[in-house]
Amino acid sequence: MTITPEPAHAAGAGEQPLLAVRDLHVTFTRSGRRIRAAKGVSFDVRPGKMLAIIGESGSGKSVTVRALMGLLPPSASVTGSAVLEGRELVGLSDRRMRMVRGQEISMVFQDPARSLNPTMSVGAQIVESVRTHRSIGRRQAAERAVELLQLVRLPAPEKRFHQYPHQLSGGMRQRVMIAIALASDPKVLIADEATTALDVTTQAQIMELLVDLRARLGTAVIMISHDLGLAASYADEVLVMYAGQVVEQAGTTELFANVRMPYTRALLEAIPQVSRPSHSALTVIGGHPPDPSQRIEGCPFRPRCPRATDICSTAPALEEHEPGHRYACWNPVPGSAAPSAVEPREETQP
Ligand SMILES: Nc1ncnc2c1ncn2[C@@H]1O[C@H](COP(=O)(O)OP(=O)(O)O)[C@@H](O)[C@H]1O
Ligand code: SF4
Ligand SMILES: [Mg+2]
Repeated sequence: MTITPEPAHAAGAGEQPLLAVRDLHVTFTRSGRRIRAAKGVSFDVRPGKMLAIIGESGSGKSVTVRALMGLLPPSASVTGSAVLEGRELVGLSDRRMRMVRGQEISMVFQDPARSLNPTMSVGAQIVESVRTHRSIGRRQAAERAVELLQLVRLPAPEKRFHQYPHQLSGGMRQRVMIAIALASDPKVLIADEATTALDVTTQAQIMELLVDLRARLGTAVIMISHDLGLAASYADEVLVMYAGQVVEQAGTTELFANVRMPYTRALLEAIPQVSRPSHSALTVIGGHPPDPSQRIEGCPFRPRCPRATDICSTAPALEEHEPGHRYACWNPVPGSAAPSAVEPREETQP
């Protein structure tokens, strides 16, 4: 499939992007095999907006954002471009990349228990992060740490400051991780499956917090999930990835009103019900994504696609077929109604 490098984002065309990613490729070499994990990914991230990157496990979501952060192992080769406020990130030296990572882009991961130090109070860990980014004294840093705990709406922040990670619930620990990520006042906050391990209620609270932060601080948020339902509820724009490629992209309202790509449709039908934990989703899509070390002929979704026809043996290009709506499919899903499981809310302004 050919991914056209531009135009890269759907909704809000004309606004200056904060981060512009173009034709990003990530290839790992392992035991002489080439694993093509991201293939020509392009998108824009706008200030104060939340972009959701959605797809099944192994579709290249984490690899894509790790490439932006310079967090891939040496076995990865990255090509393409990612420009953050005029500065090219692809090819930066490790030292410069560490500065960008510390100050401009921050990341929150799925498992706060593993990311936090169990032997240090959460306050001490936030103070450490604050002092990495600002040359201020301990007392001032401690005040800033309490402010950050307030910002992430952790109840009783002065008390929590002195507690250790094991004394906090999973949701509270994730709030602490977000506080640490915000210590540098980043322009872009990346949340990679940051709510996946949480129960449904806590998941919603953390998502509300991210929406609230992007509005209050103007921070752009890239939210990565396998759960299209979360994107429907919280994101401003949605990028759907399959087999290392972007296969559909639009503003949230447009996407859920007019899903076109059969893969996105299948993800929608796999949205977990309230009674089902989110990580049990996706089992309803038959088959498996292709092996990224194998060469793919034609549309990568073809072996699993109910709408596949002969033409699908030629790769469809990702194109803007409808205003602000790009997809790569020869036989798009007709009609305009999203399944009733999804009720996208109105796109909010920061
Ligand atoms: N360090 C690595 N070495 C080799 N292959 C990798 C490495 N990291 C990820 N991959 C491969 O890249 C593909 C995409 O991975 P990833 O971005 O983690 O998927 P997702 O986040 O969408 O679940 C997977 O097939 C995975 O096996
Ligand atoms: S209809 Fe064809 S091009 Fe579209 S997703 Fe299915 S296999 Fe791919
Ligand atoms: Mg991942």
